[in-house]
Amino acid sequence: MEVLRTNDEMSKWREERYRKGQIVGFVPTMGYLHRGHLALMEEALRRADEVVVSIFVNPTQFSPGEDLDQYPRDLEQDLKLCRDLGVQAIFAPEVEEMYPSGFQTRVQVEHLSQNLCGLYRTGHFSGVALVVTKLFGAIRPHLAVLGEKDFQQLVVIKRLSKDLNLGVEIVAHPIVREPDGLAMSSRNKYLSEEERSSALSLSRALLAARNMVTEGERRVDVLVARAKEMIEAEPHTRIQYVQVVDEETMTDIDEVTPKAVMAMAVFVGQARLIDNMRLSPSLPCLSSP
Ligand code: PAJ
Repeated sequence: MEVLRTNDEMSKWREERYRKGQIVGFVPTMGYLHRGHLALMEEALRRADEVVVSIFVNPTQFSPGEDLDQYPRDLEQDLKLCRDLGVQAIFAPEVEEMYPSGFQTRVQVEHLSQNLCGLYRTGHFSGVALVVTKLFGAIRPHLAVLGEKDFQQLVVIKRLSKDLNLGVEIVAHPIVREPDGLAMSSRNKYLSEEERSSALSLSRALLAARNMVTEGERRVDVLVARAKEMIEAEPHTRIQYVQVVDEETMTDIDEVTPKAVMAMAVFVGQARLIDNMRLSPSLPCLSSP
């Protein structure tokens, strides 16, 4: 497995693969890898001849006061996990390599970035869109695998790949959960044992809402109220939002449709956790871990 540190090294690696006519797959990450990330890599390895994983904690997607400095990092362990899985290359640039002095370009995906997390994390999706555009430019993969855990991010990236003719096929992978339902996240590291137990209320509230839909409930306000009640009943929780949106447009809906997704962001102690689930009974919900 090669570890590439600069855009030039990355382009050279990619050119060699292009020359051999190989399909290049890509999994962007911020490191501190868990089984959710590894599932994305396995998917990429199935679909491509060679796979690049980026490990870069992107400062432009963190707002002032967020956890950029505390964000967990363990490059050695990450490299070992990728090597063991059979990943061919790691792109792990320094911040100065990605954002050298004089850097001034922005990428903004307008409407899709505004609702949900966009309401609370100003500039977040513009930072994500920027770094993903740069990574796509350096790597020029044929396909990229992204997790539905960050489903608004997934929709934003699909849009930008299309709008900017980046030619990258975006493959969505279902959320990978712990056996008890907790969605895997690098930020779960911040949780104490007691907080982790409270954090289970997110996936339980989503499942409860989904079950209500299976039993015939279609009113979004009723579903949201029940989900909030279940989360608020747990200690250490502070809800930022619980909303039901159309999975393509990210706009709020009042009545459940086949494209309805319940999405939430909840602080559990210091950790800001997100989770989501499709509400329509005809669609898959909890993916097996
Ligand atoms: P990060 O949070 O490290 O996530 C990298 C990828 O892993 C994302 O596509 C995310 O949706 C996916 N992922 C995380 N937890 C998952 C889970 N439990 N199940 C399935 N997929 C999961 O998302 C980012 O990094 C960054 O914003 C990035 C796209 C790399 C841009 O900086």
